[in-house]
Amino acid sequence: MTLRNTTVSYGSIAKILHWVIALLFLAAYCAVYYRHWFTEPKTPPNMTALHLHLSFGISVGVFVLLRVIWRLSNPAPEEPPGTHLEHLAAKTGHMLLYFFMIMMPVTGYIGTGLGAEFFYLFHIPKFEETALFQWLVVDTIGITFKEFEKPVDFFHKDIGGALLVWILILIHIGAALFHHYYKRDNVFTRMLPTIKSKKDTE
Ligand code: HEM
Ligand code: HEM
Repeated sequence: MTLRNTTVSYGSIAKILHWVIALLFLAAYCAVYYRHWFTEPKTPPNMTALHLHLSFGISVGVFVLLRVIWRLSNPAPEEPPGTHLEHLAAKTGHMLLYFFMIMMPVTGYIGTGLGAEFFYLFHIPKFEETALFQWLVVDTIGITFKEFEKPVDFFHKDIGGALLVWILILIHIGAALFHHYYKRDNVFTRMLPTIKSKKDTE
């Protein structure tokens, strides 16, 4: 198993980042929907679910930053045999997933008027309290936090919260299964952890 991607498979760093981010991304959704559907406003479970949402979301942001740096310095494996349209669809799907993986943590953080209790380990101040907010939003753009948060919240809650992201993820999973069971190529397995067989170690 190599750390870097090869021409035929993702390396272990790309695999770890893919699966850790996938789990955290899904956990961020689960926490916020648990809050909406199963808790009463402003009760302790309601606030715990919110802080878990913020913690999972911020973690996605940190890992995505590492992933983008790694991806830019480390090209993906070669495309499997397929039509031009299939390659275009795969590329577009991955670009859109990257777009939401970056934009959801960013809009979540900059549009929230509340600091995060990061897994109840330490406090992360809200964007409104930072020098960057003061310089960029107040001094440069010249608007208040209320005016700033409206479009940011619209993206985070109405676009990111809509079915669109789920459909994108379901198509992504469907495509992986389609490659594995129908096309029978290595597109799915090249993102899976490599398990050393006894034969390899002998
Ligand atoms: C992977 C990252 C994230 C995803 C996928 C995500 C997704 C969502 C979704 C789906 C909603 C609910 C929309 C609705 O139906 O109203 C939401 C609400 C919210 N998000 Fe995020 N979010 C992420 C990161 C963050 C971060 C980093 C923060 C702040 C640090 C944040 C703060 C909030 C807040 C304050 C709400 C409103 C609370 C609520 O509706 O109960 N999010 N987020
Ligand atoms: C059970 C869930 C998932 C499965 C089975 C899965 C499977 C895969 C597979 C097999 C690949 C490699 C595709 C190729 O080689 O062309 C891949 C790549 C990718 N996946 Fe997933 N994935 C899952 C969840 C997610 C989630 C939740 C996200 C984002 C929110 C995501 C984002 C991506 C991205 C951006 C790539 C492209 C990687 C790159 O080339 O840099 N995946 N996934």
